[in-house]
Amino acid sequence: MSVHKEVKKVTTNVLQEMKNGGEKISMLTAYDYTMAKIVDHAGIDVILVGDSASNVMAGHETTLPITLDQMIYHASSVVRAVDRALIVVDLPFGSYQGNSKEALNSSIKIMKESGAHAVKLEGGREVRESIERILTAGIPVMGHLGLTPQSIYKFGTYNVRAKEEVEAIKLMEDAKILEQAGCFALVLEKIPAKLAEQVAKSITIPVIGIGAGGGVDGQVLVFHDMVGLNNEFNPRFLRRYLNLYDDITGAVGQYIKDIKSKDFPNSSEQY
Ligand code: KIV
Repeated sequence: MSVHKEVKKVTTNVLQEMKNGGEKISMLTAYDYTMAKIVDHAGIDVILVGDSASNVMAGHETTLPITLDQMIYHASSVVRAVDRALIVVDLPFGSYQGNSKEALNSSIKIMKESGAHAVKLEGGREVRESIERILTAGIPVMGHLGLTPQSIYKFGTYNVRAKEEVEAIKLMEDAKILEQAGCFALVLEKIPAKLAEQVAKSITIPVIGIGAGGGVDGQVLVFHDMVGLNNEFNPRFLRRYLNLYDDITGAVGQYIKDIKSKDFPNSSEQY
């Protein structure tokens, strides 16, 4: 029996049941009311209010500029739209790296002001204490390893991570640390599929991949990439289900033509 079809509200326990039962978890980003409503009604399991909003909503080159208040604005818009999906919100850069008290305060602010269900943060052993402290307040935490965009200036590229053995061993250790710290799930971004599968098999919590192959417990994509709103980002891992950039350009072009030719509005489109 599919857990997906049965469940009226997705919780962290439901995700664990999905992993235990071998059912893959679906996750997408959303940042606003209208899109979140569509994504939720389509039946997605998890909505991530990702700090990728910094790129796709605000046009920044990296995820670093987005603020805690801006994340809360996006998250509360999503919360108002969603009936079923679990809503996870990224702790933005600068809101948790200082110390575990800062991490706890930022997480409480997100939960209190947005009504979301969980937070996500990037990093391994270096954020262990923060994860444990956030959990003391009863806030579920999702981890994020592999390509961690908030550290882009440390690594200098968005290339595949953990291709070398030393890095792969460290990632495997970090995954275990995050599990022991109490994370309810883990995102693995842009790492070799074989390594991602090993991680998913060696820890009990759900592992959700992006550019991490099919051997993990679920998949996440950025909404704008998945529906082709963004035609400049073409990584190998991306499957586009629509080409909305072209469709919308065509529709807007037609609208302009109709106005210029005085076709719009016609007699039935006026009072
Ligand atoms: O911010 C984001 O959209 C993310 C996903 C890429 C996992 O962290």
